[in-house]
Amino acid sequence: MSESFPVRIEQRGAVAIWTIDREARRNALSRAAVLALGKLARDAETNASIRAIIVTGAGNLAFCAGADLKERQAMDENAVRAQLELYRSEFLPIDRSSKPVVAAINGAALGGGLELALTCDLRVAAAHARLGLPETSLGVIPGAGGTQRLPRIVGEGRAKEMILLARQLTAEEALAWGLVHRVTPAGTSVVDDALEWIRPIADGAPIAQAAALAAIDRAFDVTIDVGLELEKGSYEKTLVSEDRREALTAYAEKRAARFQGK
Ligand code: COA
Repeated sequence: MSESFPVRIEQRGAVAIWTIDREARRNALSRAAVLALGKLARDAETNASIRAIIVTGAGNLAFCAGADLKERQAMDENAVRAQLELYRSEFLPIDRSSKPVVAAINGAALGGGLELALTCDLRVAAAHARLGLPETSLGVIPGAGGTQRLPRIVGEGRAKEMILLARQLTAEEALAWGLVHRVTPAGTSVVDDALEWIRPIADGAPIAQAAALAAIDRAFDVTIDVGLELEKGSYEKTLVSEDRREALTAYAEKRAARFQGK
């Protein structure tokens, strides 16, 4: 583990796996960890060998314990302000990634750790995981997108319940609330489970997936009329792709399509 780049990188097939590697601090987000994640997300945009991304944490105790509270102790108000700006700027390329990003939540996802998971498109949680935004119990509020992204996923009422009560959900509760898509059975690695689950993405048509993400990501920010226009623009990108023709040919030939991302 390197403190200057505390994220381990691995690639399995077409899936990049980024592991926050600060187990002794429960994978808390140091400045270097946030910068590393942002850089990886930006670099992945132009790396055609990556079709999907899994973000996870080292060990099985924590996905990410949020802000590094030890690092923060030495910070004055301006330094904290700058740190939050960093979260905002470095989480954005993950949120806006044209490649599907999956959080493999291997343990506690708290504060900034859950906010990181909220920037991902899909979330898979280990059976023992806990998810929460405890910031108000620490005298602050979620400052890395949590107040905006959480209600979009679980609804306003449930977001207020989680944030005002600093309520932590179990993996099963998070599943029932739609905060995670899937709970990995105990005894199975959440990364292995996520890899298997997203196989249709890794084998799928990247242009179509990116177009779908671009359209869906804007859905809650615009009127339905504007949204339908955005969908039209995204559809157009798939219409002119070789992958669309390949899918039709594969259907006629009764075989699986081989998508090239072209
Ligand atoms: N920042 C810095 N260090 C952290 C940390 C954080 N957010 N969370 C945990 N650590 C450190 C602890 O200080 C401890 O270090 P030490 O061994 O030097 O004392 C070590 O990680 C283990 O923590 P511990 O609480 O004993 O681990 P645990 O496995 O029992 O519990 C958590 C894990 C994540 C549930 C628990 O550590 C926790 O609640 N952390 C704080 C989460 C939080 O409030 N984040 C901020 C939100 S705004």
